[in-house]
Amino acid sequence: MTKQLIIILMSFVFINLNAQKKWQAPAEAKQLQNPFNADETLLQKGQKVFQSLCVSCHGTDGTGNPVMLKTLNPPPADLTSAAVQQQTDGEIFWKITRGRGLMASYKNMLSDEERWAVVTYIRKLGENKPEKITKQVTGNNNEVDAFAFSQLINAKTTYIRQTGGFGFGIQHRFGATKFDKNMLKNFFGLDLASNIRFSFEIPVTNKLMLDIGRTRYGKFYDLGAKYLWLKQTVDNKIPVSVAFYENVAVTTENAPQYSENATFDDGRKFEYKFYHRLFYDTQLIFSRKFNEKFSAQIAVELVWRNLTPALPTGQKAYVFAVPVSMRFKTGLKSAIDLEIMPDAYHLFIPVSLAYEIASSGNHVFQITLTNSERILSQNLFFNTTLHYRDGFILGFNLSRYF
Ligand code: HEC
Repeated sequence: MTKQLIIILMSFVFINLNAQKKWQAPAEAKQLQNPFNADETLLQKGQKVFQSLCVSCHGTDGTGNPVMLKTLNPPPADLTSAAVQQQTDGEIFWKITRGRGLMASYKNMLSDEERWAVVTYIRKLGENKPEKITKQVTGNNNEVDAFAFSQLINAKTTYIRQTGGFGFGIQHRFGATKFDKNMLKNFFGLDLASNIRFSFEIPVTNKLMLDIGRTRYGKFYDLGAKYLWLKQTVDNKIPVSVAFYENVAVTTENAPQYSENATFDDGRKFEYKFYHRLFYDTQLIFSRKFNEKFSAQIAVELVWRNLTPALPTGQKAYVFAVPVSMRFKTGLKSAIDLEIMPDAYHLFIPVSLAYEIASSGNHVFQITLTNSERILSQNLFFNTTLHYRDGFILGFNLSRYF
């Protein structure tokens, strides 16, 4: 209590001294980087420091102790606000080190490690704010994420979730509806057969993430691994993020009917084996965040299946594609997503459009408009049977991190 009284008294002395001037860290502070591992132990250290030294003014959640907000001038900064969270780790570290007015200098009171730890904790406090969508909080703030989620509509992005949680997603597609008189009768495809994929995402390290899914069409179970090789940096020393993605899907449909004297193309006797059920998807993905509003990516993708239908189309075992994905932010929480996936197979090129609403950095909902009910690359490229001129498929994606 006496501590608070002293603070309040001090506040009258300092009143208006710094009130109107925005507190700006010098340019060289921007580049300062956390030399310590931004892991769980550091975070816990930061939490301890914060709870013993900072909550009296900044409040337990970082938004400010209500009493201090009223009495101090300038008031303690809301550490979860965009104004603070958009600063680099270096700038926040510099301010804690130097102090200003009532905000003491912690240079001598706290070690370097303790000050970096509390910066890490301030990031954590800012995590549940919607601003996180525009500025992904990572251990190293020189890094840029082009996309805030690990898949856009159907395409995988270069994004990898930070470890310590897991993701859950639902991708749902209603039936195909053509621009004809049945469109309304079938209620824009909502009455027709639908496809759905459930998936879990498990970050293993901050470079490696696994995902596991189940899709209705093809009764596929799929297991994927994404490895982030390079990550775009603010200073543009690394201009793009590059990720490698591999997915193996197994169909659990009943074995196809075939006659006893069926043969392979080369004349060997055909027999349905387990490996015929496997479909592979391999991708190298390049993404770039161009500015606060626009991100894009391009991938080189090869899809391979171990068994191809013989007739009537003479389908190939593989398809090459160069999917292009774009995201235009239309507001703090909303965006329009577009995917065009030219491939060498050319039934019809998969084209998808989505309106995205993200209620926080941890949750996104998309209304999708596609020309394929297929979701997994392994059957998207082989089974897109609708030209976008002729009709569309409504759907939605839901993705959440826990
Ligand atoms: C006596 C109250 C008080 C305490 C205790 C305190 N702060 Fe502050 N803090 C302030 C005030 C007041 C400001 C605004 C200073 C200004 O703008 O001139 C501030 C500003 C800041 C800023 C800068 C925000 C911006 O605008 O960029 C950071 C970061 C910060 N405090 C972190 C901390 C941390 C970390 C601790 C604990 C180690 C701490 N503060 C303890 C009162 C306090």
